[in-house]
Amino acid sequence: MARRENRTYLMGWSSIFEMNSSVTQLTASGDVKDTWNRPLRDLRISVIDRCNYRCPYCMPDEVYGDGYEFLPRRHWLTPGEIKRVAGLFMQLGVTKLRVTGGEPLLRRDIVEIVSGLNELPGLDLALTTNGALLAGLAGELKAAGLKRITISLDSLDDAVFKQMSGEKGNIANVLKGVEAARIVGLSPIKLNVVVQKSKNDHTVLDLVDHFRGSGAIVRFIEYMDVGTLNGWRLDEVVTSKVLMEQIDERWSLKPVEPNYRGEVAQRYVFEDGQGEIGFISSVSEPFCGDCHRARLSADGTIYTCLFAKQGICVREQLRAGASDADLIGLLQNLWRHRTDRYSEQRGKETTKKVSKSRIEMYRMGG
Ligand code: GTP
Ligand code: 5AD
Ligand code: SF4
Ligand code: SF4
Repeated sequence: MARRENRTYLMGWSSIFEMNSSVTQLTASGDVKDTWNRPLRDLRISVIDRCNYRCPYCMPDEVYGDGYEFLPRRHWLTPGEIKRVAGLFMQLGVTKLRVTGGEPLLRRDIVEIVSGLNELPGLDLALTTNGALLAGLAGELKAAGLKRITISLDSLDDAVFKQMSGEKGNIANVLKGVEAARIVGLSPIKLNVVVQKSKNDHTVLDLVDHFRGSGAIVRFIEYMDVGTLNGWRLDEVVTSKVLMEQIDERWSLKPVEPNYRGEVAQRYVFEDGQGEIGFISSVSEPFCGDCHRARLSADGTIYTCLFAKQGICVREQLRAGASDADLIGLLQNLWRHRTDRYSEQRGKETTKKVSKSRIEMYRMGG
């Protein structure tokens, strides 16, 4: 298919909105495809841009110190607004919602947010957390309708974990959170491990050993050049291939089919029946071709790529009483003009210079 210019990112909300009414009648809902024929299936909702960790690969402490100004609370979408936007996305084909952050459990109304989203019928509803506050909230989240959970856990080694969380995390709390999630029946539990060379790669086998046979699915994520502030270097990436071979040497692995088209993780099972692990290879094997994800930030900005430089903010329109039809038209147009394939293009770039205008991952939703 011929490539089109990504005009969407050059436009303000009002011009997109005007296009809606002038180009075609865009208010009828239904599946929508982007310029690469990719449907919209997955909405990742960041409900807060703050976090109680300072993982150097995401929110380095030297940048996000005490004086750092996060989004003002009045700009956070309310549970009702989040539900409304999610409902509109559903009308365009979204079947999966992931609540994320920053750290979503820092929002005092997180249970209300989950319970509102759970009222939307027929959705796969998941949440990603660093687990620090999960032990106290797992039961309420499950009762509010959360089905499954993903917990970030970069190492089981105390010192390594501390360093990977910017000296903020406590491994015992996270393990209590994992246990609480298991007890209340959040299932499956997935554990996300970002791997950085010489930081935590030497602790990977211990992690696998600990969770093998527990039912939890450990997934290793290649360290990505998201945002502008983590000082990313290609030589700090440990590829999935390297990890896979290392793990396979100890416990034989067998690849299995994805659960759904466009699944980010490549799945493997242990040949001895002790469960599943996954690899997310966004640097070495980009998966843009099947990327069906949009992102909604805590302040109501919609992004169509994790590496976007700009999004479209709908907060003021929501608060000014925009109709569902107008908003659906806007979202349709945004998706129809989408050309994003950042991770694939990154591989082809000759210069590895990071664009300074990218939005940080904790803000748009990991
Ligand atoms: P499942 O619904 O359980 O399959 O979850 P998921 O793998 O889609 O979501 P999760 O939040 O666990 O994603 C894991 C990690 O994969 C993220 O934290 C990112 O590091 C990476 N990732 C997810 N989506 C994208 C994406 O669209 N682009 C890129 N480059 N990386 C992504
Ligand atoms: N590379 C890969 N994944 C990242 N995350 C945050 N920053 C990065 C990065 N630089 C993801 C991790 C974490 C989630 C909240 O965001 O998966 O678990
Ligand atoms: Fe917080 Fe997750 Fe970013 Fe770490 S990766 S600083 S836990 S949002
Ligand atoms: Fe999707 Fe952008 Fe990630 Fe590619 S880089 S998979 S287009 S979010």
